Amino acid sequence: MRLLVVGGAGYIGSHMVKRCAAAGHEVVTLDNFSTGHRDALTAGGLIEADLADRDALGRAFAAGRFDAVMHFASFIQVAESVRDPARYYRNNYANTLNLLEAMLAHRVRRFVFSSSAAVFGEPQRVPIDEAHPAYPINPYGRSKRMVEETLADFDRAYGLRSVALRYFNAAGADPEGELGERHEPETHLVPLVLRAASGRSPAVSVFGRDYDTPDGTCIRDYIHVADLCEAHLLALDFLAARDRSAAFNLGNGNGFSVQEVIDAVRRVTGRAVKIVDAPRREGDPARLVADARAARAVLGWRPRYHALDTIVAHAWAWERRQAGLE
Ligand code: UFG
Repeated sequence: MRLLVVGGAGYIGSHMVKRCAAAGHEVVTLDNFSTGHRDALTAGGLIEADLADRDALGRAFAAGRFDAVMHFASFIQVAESVRDPARYYRNNYANTLNLLEAMLAHRVRRFVFSSSAAVFGEPQRVPIDEAHPAYPINPYGRSKRMVEETLADFDRAYGLRSVALRYFNAAGADPEGELGERHEPETHLVPLVLRAASGRSPAVSVFGRDYDTPDGTCIRDYIHVADLCEAHLLALDFLAARDRSAAFNLGNGNGFSVQEVIDAVRRVTGRAVKIVDAPRREGDPARLVADARAARAVLGWRPRYHALDTIVAHAWAWERRQAGLE
């Protein structure tokens, strides 16, 4: 297939570009490099453009003849979305609408969307399956949910078929060591604990030890970036085989606490990790764990790197390079 990967220079997008090329697809990245990295592009073509630029999108689609689009280009910081919702609705929603309209204008009708567990808001039950009510509690989650609802409308009205993939906690790095996570600022737990292990930062904060969990720290479902990429390839197969849209939750179904992640980093790296206990971070649910049985049953998805130590080991290989410890 000829695939347009929007946000292909970012963390998950760059792993996807590499995987698509390895699977024999022709791939073109569209990125404005607002948060992505040029040296994260390992394959395919590049269109340097902004999703706010509808003319540039029109030109990209006129020249591209794409069979499908994957969309990874969004802002991802929950706290920032509370402080500056306009930035999130503009980029994550309005710019996505530009992209969808450009697809329709050029009769591209297959779309894989990077959604988030944040669409579910405060969990009413855990693990979270696709039937769980979706009442997001911050602008980031709402921007993702609004796209999902728009996709349902576009399916009915225009026949645009989509798969929304709700990632739980994306983590890990390219098993070959070529790519990894490089957010600036970094807010995610796994890379921050690894920075404390490598010495790039003095310590990691633990945001709350008084949650209703066995060790008092929050529980999350960490899913390897390479397994997320496999789900995207399977979503393309789904769209080719079935003339309908769907949404799937993507996680391992195993929850690990913040303390367990820190213990895994100490185990895998053999290094000390200094901890600073800090107050709860606003908006953090105690437990977020996916029920991903639908992705397994319908897509045939089989996460391969489900062991936490493997996720941490791959991310550690990447962190060693960033820290110059090679
Ligand atoms: N945490 C710490 N210290 C840190 C960073 C995080 O204790 O320095 C804790 C958080 O409080 C949370 C857990 O580690 O309990 C995981 O936090 P992350 O920020 O890594 O991930 P989240 O679960 O908050 O975020 C995930 C995705 C986001 C997405 C969000 C939506 O990684 O991109 O879900 O809910 F926006």
